Amino acid sequence: MEIKYNYSLKNHNTFGVQVNCKTFVRLNSQQEASNYVQNQLDKTLPYLLIGEGSNLLFTKNFEGTIIQMQNKGFELIDETNKNVWIKAAAGEIWDDFVVWSVEKNYAGAENLSKIPGTMGAAPIQNIGAYGVELAEIFNGLEAIEIETGELRRFYLRELQFGYRDSIFKQKFKNKYIITAVILKLNKFPFFKIEYGNIKAELETLTYENLNIGVIRQAIINIRSRKLPDPSELGNAGSFFKNPFIDVKKHNDLKKLFPDLVSYDLENDKYKLAAGWLIDKAGLKGYSKGKVAVHKDQALIIVNMGDAGGQEILDFSEEIRNKVYEIFGVMFELEVNVI
Ligand code: EPU
Repeated sequence: MEIKYNYSLKNHNTFGVQVNCKTFVRLNSQQEASNYVQNQLDKTLPYLLIGEGSNLLFTKNFEGTIIQMQNKGFELIDETNKNVWIKAAAGEIWDDFVVWSVEKNYAGAENLSKIPGTMGAAPIQNIGAYGVELAEIFNGLEAIEIETGELRRFYLRELQFGYRDSIFKQKFKNKYIITAVILKLNKFPFFKIEYGNIKAELETLTYENLNIGVIRQAIINIRSRKLPDPSELGNAGSFFKNPFIDVKKHNDLKKLFPDLVSYDLENDKYKLAAGWLIDKAGLKGYSKGKVAVHKDQALIIVNMGDAGGQEILDFSEEIRNKVYEIFGVMFELEVNVI
């Protein structure tokens, strides 16, 4: 365990915002996590669990404890002819797991290549990209209850996964420290290449037989063209969620904007591409002070220098309001504002 006081969080949030926390704690094992919450954590002050801080926007100093799991390791815990079950420590970097699984030829995670963040954070918002969500390969997780220090196991159904959502963003928000995630991968891959331009990207690559390594490469190529690298330009990926609207609203918008990008969810709802709406509103590349809408992907807000968290949040409100004025659609935030 490692504890620091009055600690800067600048390197612990991918927006690169300078704020301090009162106490910063790194925990190296499930046992350490259990002991810490039972004996040392000051529960009268606020506390917050973070992974790599890739989905967070701090708007002020944090007057409490930031907790980070640092445990490591992947372990094959079960196997059949078709599947493997892997227990991954919460402190692992998500993409290190994808690299590991692709090397072993265990399929299922390759479309989620290069998503920033840790393993422990992945189920909280049900990370997703390129036609795949974590929920599809998730089996269960282990977590320490903060109130009691007890270990609890959660299985797929209990997670109540939704679009960028789980029970750990709702009822169990800040109630558990996730210490390990169990993933179920496939020995025989089922390639998912229908989303967006994956097929087009595959055509530019040279390979004999399609395999998950090639898919990973295609995803990396697509991502690196559009998504800014947080080590070069502060950002937290998509700032807003793609909004859901009903059929009537969809038909009204489609009449006004025939090129509207939308996906029929086949339950009388449509999902809109928030990036397209911001782009159509003429806001791609728009900037104010040190904050901007990314020039290649309008759903991403970037910190071009030393912008403060409140400044970034105010800027995002301006974008939200402008989109609402034009399309009558109000975005929900995808990032977690603290
Ligand atoms: N679009 C534009 N202009 C833009 C951005 C997008 O016209 O500036 C259009 C695209 O041409 C496309 C549509 O909008 O037709 C959707 O764009 P894209 O495929 O890039 O995906 P997205 O909906 O903007 C979502 C996730 C991303 C994930 C990608 C790829 C959310 C909030 N975001 O973005 O996840 O990488 O799909 O699957 O669901 C994240 O969560 O932080 C994140 C980056």
